[in-house]
Amino acid sequence: MTQTATTAASTPTQRIQQHRRYLMCRPEFFTVSYEINPWMHTADPTDTSKAVQQWQALYDTYIELGHEIELIDPIEGLPDMVYTANGGFIIDGKALGVKFSVDERRGEERPYMDRFAELGFEVVEPIAEQEGEGDILLVGDTILAGYGFRSSIESHREIARVFDREVVSLKLIDPRFYHLDTAISVLDPVQGAGGVDKANIAYLEHAFDAASQEILAERFPDAIKVADADGAVFGLNSASDGLNVIISPRAKGFEAQLRERGYNPVLVDLSELLLGGGGIKCCTLELRGAR
Ligand code: ARG
Repeated sequence: MTQTATTAASTPTQRIQQHRRYLMCRPEFFTVSYEINPWMHTADPTDTSKAVQQWQALYDTYIELGHEIELIDPIEGLPDMVYTANGGFIIDGKALGVKFSVDERRGEERPYMDRFAELGFEVVEPIAEQEGEGDILLVGDTILAGYGFRSSIESHREIARVFDREVVSLKLIDPRFYHLDTAISVLDPVQGAGGVDKANIAYLEHAFDAASQEILAERFPDAIKVADADGAVFGLNSASDGLNVIISPRAKGFEAQLRERGYNPVLVDLSELLLGGGGIKCCTLELRGAR
C-alpha cells in the first residue's frame, strides 16, 4: 500500500481541549511516615511546605487552563490523602468508593465517599479491594483496570457491573509501577469532536506482563510507547485534557513525543510528592457527571 509521505511532525493532528473537573487535596499534612511502595523511604526527610508549593503550582495550572477544581479537606495523620486519584472512580455522576489493600490508607475511604456525596454524586460502596483511579482508567468508552499490586482482579467484575461498561484487565509486574496510572497515561479520554480523534494512550510496555502487552498493542496501535527513562521519573503519571498534557519536566523523551503528536506538554514539577510515590495524576481525580 502506498501512502503519501506525511510525518506526524510536519502535520500534527489537530488536538481539541476538553473541559475537566477535578478533585484535589492540599498536602498540608504530607510526609512519609510509612513505606507502602518502593519510592517511600521514612529515613529521607520531607518538606511539607515545598509539597504544598509544588501542589499549588499544579492547581494554578489547571485553573489557568480553564478547568474546574473541587477540594477535599486534608486530614492530619493521613499523609497520602493528597493522592486523590486513589479516592474513587467516577463516571456518569456515579462514584465508586475505594477499599485500600494497605491499612495505612483505609482511614481515607469514608472521607472520600462523604465528599462525593456532598458534591452530588451517587456513591457506591465498594466490595472488592481496589484503589480508584490509581488503577482504573477510562479510555473512550472502555475502562482499563490494573491488578497485581494494590487492586484485586475481583474488583474488575464489580467495576463492570457498577458502570455497565467493558473492563479490560491489565497485569502490572514491576513494583515501581504499582498503580496503573504510573504506567499508562490517557491522552484522549473522550472521542474528539466529529470522531476525528481516536481515544489514545501512552504507556510503558515493561510495566505489564506479556499478555497485557499484547492486549495494549492490539487495542491501541497508535499509542505512544515511552522509554524506561521517562517511565522511571513518573512521566506517565500525567493529566491530559485532550490538548494540554501536564507532565513532569524530567520526562524529556515523552515531552518530545507529545509535541510530535500535536499535544501541548505543560511541565509541572512535583518532586516532593514523588517521595511518597505519587505524581501529577495521583494528585488529580476526575469528576465526571453530576452537577
Ligand atoms: N503513597 C501513596 C500510596 O502508596 C502513593 C499513591 C500514588 N497514587 C497513584 N494514583 N498512583 O498509596
